[in-house]
Amino acid sequence: MTIRFDNRVAIVTGAGGGLGRTYALELARRGAKVVVNDLGGSRDGTGHSDAALKVVEEIKAAGGEAMSDGGSVTEYEHMVELVAKTKEKWGGIHVLINNAGVLRDKSFAKMEPADFKFVVDVHLNGSAMCTKAVWETMREQNYGRILMTASSTGLYGNFGQANYGAAKLGLAGLTKTLAIEGAKNNIKVNTIAPTAGTRMTEDLFPAEAFAAFAPEKVAPAAIYLVSEDAPTNMIVGAGAGVFQAAYVTLTQGKLLTGDELSAEGIAAHWAEITDRTGELTPQSGAEQSLSIMRKLQGG
Ligand code: NAI
Repeated sequence: MTIRFDNRVAIVTGAGGGLGRTYALELARRGAKVVVNDLGGSRDGTGHSDAALKVVEEIKAAGGEAMSDGGSVTEYEHMVELVAKTKEKWGGIHVLINNAGVLRDKSFAKMEPADFKFVVDVHLNGSAMCTKAVWETMREQNYGRILMTASSTGLYGNFGQANYGAAKLGLAGLTKTLAIEGAKNNIKVNTIAPTAGTRMTEDLFPAEAFAAFAPEKVAPAAIYLVSEDAPTNMIVGAGAGVFQAAYVTLTQGKLLTGDELSAEGIAAHWAEITDRTGELTPQSGAEQSLSIMRKLQGG
């Protein structure tokens, strides 16, 4: 079955280059009307350019429909206006891919507080504000597909990226609650953790790996995760054509009582507390509470 986006309207943030551009081109090729947002700054988020406009021209040249937006994802009022403009032009918004991002890497010891806050602001607050701007429309439509962009750094850590990692795992957390809140209005929310050769990773990848990690090899996961039949509440890794699912799991744990309900008891039972046999994957915070109740009842 071919996945199509006819009569669907999509906003892709940070789509002036790299992964976002690839997603925008692919959505348009599959029939979507696409808003290409990009501030067009440098990798650290400074400056402006007409990067978004160029991608719109590419889409139009290929016979697709698109409009550009050069605003910042961190500007909530701008995003609200963009949503209004898009609805006026195309009647709705069905897909949002929160992809815009910046890097200001440094070891935590050397990182300025301003660089921590800036990176968290663009990735985490920016994605939350864009989502907030489309949320009511998607609720009213009883249809929405939202993709957040996390990273292996957020899920597993990476030297020199404390700001970026904190924001990226925050996005996986945002996904989990929005997937729950959006369910009754057919809003599906997922997270992608891509690995791709782009300007963001150009000094990390050896030249020959660049082609193997082309953004086009990530895009199939992004397209599926914003399609009609998308799952919800998933964290999907995608790179070089390899697709994975990441989970936040919970061990069965150990009930401690009496004298053992102490720091010493934790130390004595650490192996059992952390034993991964029969690990759980709660689908909500309440499910963790339930697992505690079960343990109290001897389960
Ligand atoms: P990229 O640098 O080519 O794309 C990011 C785009 O976001 C740029 O075009 C930039 O101008 C735009 N942008 C930055 N700040 C913005 C703002 N405030 N408002 C609007 N647009 C803004 O890099 P790439 O690799 O395509 O990154 C896309 C996303 O994927 C980012 O969120 C990045 O953190 C994430 N990612 C990429 C990985 C990779 O291996 N390339 C690994 C993990 C995550």
